[in-house]
Amino acid sequence: MKRVFSGVQPTGNLHLGNYLGAIKNFVSLQNDHECIYCVVDMHAITVRQDPKILKNNILEVAAAFVASGINPEKSIIFVQSQVSAHAELAWIFNCVARLGWLNRMTQFKEKAGKNRENASAGLYTYPVLMAADILAYHASHVPVGDDQRQHLELARDIAQKFNNDFKVDFFPITEPVIMGNATRVMSLRDGKNKMSKSDISDYSRLNLTDSADEISKKIRKAKTDPLPLPDLSCLDDEEKFKDDIIANRPEAVNLLNIYAALANENIKKVVSIFAEKQFSFFKNELNDISVEVLSPITAEMRKLIDDKAYLEDILNKGRENAHGMASPILKRTKEIVGFY
Ligand code: TYM
Repeated sequence: MKRVFSGVQPTGNLHLGNYLGAIKNFVSLQNDHECIYCVVDMHAITVRQDPKILKNNILEVAAAFVASGINPEKSIIFVQSQVSAHAELAWIFNCVARLGWLNRMTQFKEKAGKNRENASAGLYTYPVLMAADILAYHASHVPVGDDQRQHLELARDIAQKFNNDFKVDFFPITEPVIMGNATRVMSLRDGKNKMSKSDISDYSRLNLTDSADEISKKIRKAKTDPLPLPDLSCLDDEEKFKDDIIANRPEAVNLLNIYAALANENIKKVVSIFAEKQFSFFKNELNDISVEVLSPITAEMRKLIDDKAYLEDILNKGRENAHGMASPILKRTKEIVGFY
């Protein structure tokens, strides 16, 4: 059975992009894969976190996993910092990865911004820790949103270089799994920017904790353009939006993609349903489906967050299982490297 690994940072404001781009796919993979899903708190502290809030956010991500349908009896759910193999392997990989590779990481440049000198060293080596997360379990498949593509390429480079340097065939070359219509959900306020936990405008995203009223308000205020919705001529032969539509009508493209992902429909069908309709009509439909999909998850998350003991039990079991899987791989890695 193929082994799947993925992680979500406990940095608050879990949103529709996290759900559609990642967590929804985590759920669908668990039927025919061995799945390991991690709350990556060590990644979270690459930027400053309030310790009390971080602790709550860790439980919130675990609750979101379970509320979205990840079955803790089938899949491993655990917290990264509780399995020391991640940190240990990350150090070894820090000595395999090249500075030149890290210098090319676009997400570091975006997150560090203008004040690069003041960014943490952890933010810089962030993708090396990601490689350690995945490879500590010899995971072959990693479901993520499109923004993680470059990081996963780095994980492949690290695995390959380790294998070459030590003349072994030990670490697998991991495949990214970037699937569905919502691999890159954009902001509701600006279709050219990614929906993000850190956007200062809460109107830019649908949070997994939003009430039905908040969802409706945000969809009503979502940016659109003055034209009616596009017809099928906006799609190319591969049923993808044409470049000029993406460039000129990014909000329409984003909202249609979101609808398709929520409705589990292909984009051609969705475009044809709403072709030449007004945004006001489409927004009502989008609101209904958003509430229908997200409200049960939000309600279940609330229930789970109140049942801390249940969540902690899941995370404790997850830690044991994850530790059991990663330990022999770490041990062998240390032997290969020549540690005493
Ligand atoms: P994080 O916490 O930023 O995001 C969690 C997942 O959500 C996806 N995502 C999106 N997908 C579509 N549209 C969006 N607007 C959007 N925003 C976020 C992300 O691609 C991600 O899959 N580095 C990772 C966490 C991580 C990880 C790993 C992932 C740590 N170790 C090992 C895979 C394997 C991250 O920042 O996720």
